[in-house]
Order: sequence, then C-alpha cells, then structure tokens
Amino acid sequence: MLELRNVSFGVDADEGKKEIIRDVSFTVPDDKLIVITGPNGGGKSTLARLIAGIEKPISGNIILDGEDITQMSITDRARKGIGFAFQQPVRFKGIEVFDLIRLATGKSISVADACSYLSAVGLCARDYIKREVNASLSGGELKRIEIATLLAKSPRLSVFDEPEAGIDLWSFKNLIEVFEGMRKNINNSSILIISHQERILNIADEIMVIRDGRLAEKGTRDEILPGLMRTDSAVRECSGVNANAAAAIRPQTDGADVKNRETEVCTDASNG
Ligand SMILES: Nc1ncnc2c1ncn2[C@@H]1O[C@H](COP(=O)(O)OP(=O)(O)OP(=O)(O)O)[C@@H](O)[C@H]1O
Ligand SMILES: [Mg+2]
Repeated sequence: MLELRNVSFGVDADEGKKEIIRDVSFTVPDDKLIVITGPNGGGKSTLARLIAGIEKPISGNIILDGEDITQMSITDRARKGIGFAFQQPVRFKGIEVFDLIRLATGKSISVADACSYLSAVGLCARDYIKREVNASLSGGELKRIEIATLLAKSPRLSVFDEPEAGIDLWSFKNLIEVFEGMRKNINNSSILIISHQERILNIADEIMVIRDGRLAEKGTRDEILPGLMRTDSAVRECSGVNANAAAAIRPQTDGADVKNRETEVCTDASNG
C-alpha cells in the first residue's frame, strides 16, 4: 500500500515561491485500480514525479508498505516495486526494444515472451522487437513500448501518467483491455492511472480529483464519476451552446478528454 501524508511541493519562480502540491494525503490500497483526474496544470504529473522520487516534497511523507520512502532515490524506489510510464516517454539511444523489455522483467526471457507484451499494446511485435528505441519511433509507438515495458516489469505499484496521450483510437481500445486484464489479475499489487479519459475513469475502483494542487474529491467510481460527467453537461448548458454545436463536437471526441470538451464548448460559445 502506498500512502501520501500531508505532502506539499513547490518551486522557486520569478514571483517567489510557487506552490504546486498543497497538503495532499491519500492511500493507494493493494489490489485496487485508482485513477487520478483533474484540470490541466492541477498537479497530477507532479504528484507522479513525487511518488517516483524525481522530486522531493517540501513537507509530508510518502510511505510504501509501512516504510517511509520520502528521501529514497528513484532507483531504490524502483527496487521496492514502484514502476512508471511517464506522460512524455524517454528515448534510450542504442538500446533495442527487446533489451528494454528483457531488462524490465529482470530475467532472461525469450523473444516470443517479449513479443507478447508488445502484442498486448497493439504493436506488431515482429516489426518492433529489434528496433532501436530512438527518435525514429513515433510518439504513439514509443508510448506503447513504454507501457509494454511496465507490463513486463509488473511492479508492486504501476503508475501510468496519461497512457492515452498520443494513442490512436484502435490502440486505445486495446489499452483499455490491457488495463481491464491487469485489474482482473491484480494480486498483491496496485495500479495508479492519471487520465482524462472517461473510459479509463470507468474501470477505476476509486477516483481522485486533483485541482489547483489539492485533493479536491476522492471516492469510489460510482460516487465521483456522475458528478464529473454532470460538470461537463453543466458547462455546456451554462455556455448557451446550441444543440447543433454540441452535436458537432460530441462525435469527434467520443470517449475523449472531458476537460478538452469543456474547453472546446467554451471557445465555441465565446465565438458566438
Ligand atoms: N519545475 C516547475 N517550475 C515551475 N512550474 C512548474 C514546474 N513543474 C510544474 N510546474 C507547474 O505546476 C503545475 C502543475 O503541473 P503538472 O504537470 O503537475 O500538471 P498536470 O495536472 O499533470 O497537468 P496536465 O493535465 O496538463 O498534464 C503547472 O501549472 C505547471 O506549470
Ligand atoms: Mg500531467
């Protein structure tokens, strides 16, 4: 179980200290899939970086299975079983996809085994297994390879920061199935997904909303999701958007970012 106790974080900015995370406390229990959502710039990725150890809190504690890991290095946290797939994946020059997956499992595995992880994220394994992880890979390919690597690692706690970012509609469907499979076979581990996607929110055991650096809402999917959806429709109604404009937006963004829809609707409304 991961626990954040009164975690705060800020950076030095031109205008003085900028608070990014404000006194956030929550737990990620074992055997649960938790989704964090909330407006752009709310602090979700910063929270992920704090959990990974890339950033250290100004105050508060991060506890993994009863052990205080607040000051622990990224490498030690990874050894303790925290695994990440970042919003912007890293390119590793000179390493092949197969090696990346093999290293993630921490044991010698066959090419066929490695390929099964690529297939799970909708990549034709034969085409990718020997490719170098460099700038020749597209953003979506890289993202999927990173997710495959995390599947191979199968850590105690898997953290995915916007796994949907840059992924096409077909692969996204695949990805949802991957997460559903992970959740079904969750055993003494937990999954934390940062996402704006309704379809990912739909498979959560619990949802947390991070807004303006604070934990604004937390509860089961049934407690939180209807309210989030109402926010979406409330914005549309308040913006005075006519039915045609709303209908024109809806099909293009089916299952897409709730926040983006709000923005589009607002832009539409303000344009008259
Ligand atoms: N090193 C930094 N220096 C200054 N501001 C920062 C720094 N890191 C993050 N921020 C600011 O902190 C806020 C939270 O950023 P963060 O990336 O955590 O948001 P997010 O919730 O992940 O947003 P998104 O949904 O767009 O991914 C933003 O306003 C961002 O500009
Ligand atoms: Mg982010």
